[in-house]
Amino acid sequence: MAVRALRLEPDEILRKKSKPIEVVDDKIKELIEDMLDTMYEANGVGLAAVQIGVLKRVLVMDDMEDGSEPIVLINPEVTHTERMQRGTEGCLSIPNLRGIVRRPYITHVKALNENGEAVELVLEGFLSVVFHHELDHLDGILYTDKAIKTYHPDEDEDEDHQEEK
Ligand code: NI
Repeated sequence: MAVRALRLEPDEILRKKSKPIEVVDDKIKELIEDMLDTMYEANGVGLAAVQIGVLKRVLVMDDMEDGSEPIVLINPEVTHTERMQRGTEGCLSIPNLRGIVRRPYITHVKALNENGEAVELVLEGFLSVVFHHELDHLDGILYTDKAIKTYHPDEDEDEDHQEEK
């Protein structure tokens, strides 16, 4: 268990595509523990392995609602999305910036969990936002690539996530 250094833009590793994980072994479990430690230390709600310099397809997230448990997804794939939402995002790899991004409102996902078991999830609202943000990291995409606008947190108001009607 360890907090690891965050890779920050413009580190070029953030633009690389992460590779699928073939076996969920003790090394992967240790990586996941370090990702969670690093995410919580930074008060983040999501982290992709590439953000600590590991090009493997694993992401963690926790929306920090009361009683929430971290969600760990290995080799995640989107099977279906419904409706759209928009709101403010930030990224632990891009300090002092925010942006308004459109994302699916509901996302059906299949993946492996931290024990290597196949799981299917339906993510709604903010968790769907966090998921797509982290999934993009696995493909070398940053939210700034998709943002309708970006701004310094002192210079503009954050937008709560709202479903588009
Ligand atoms: Ni990010």
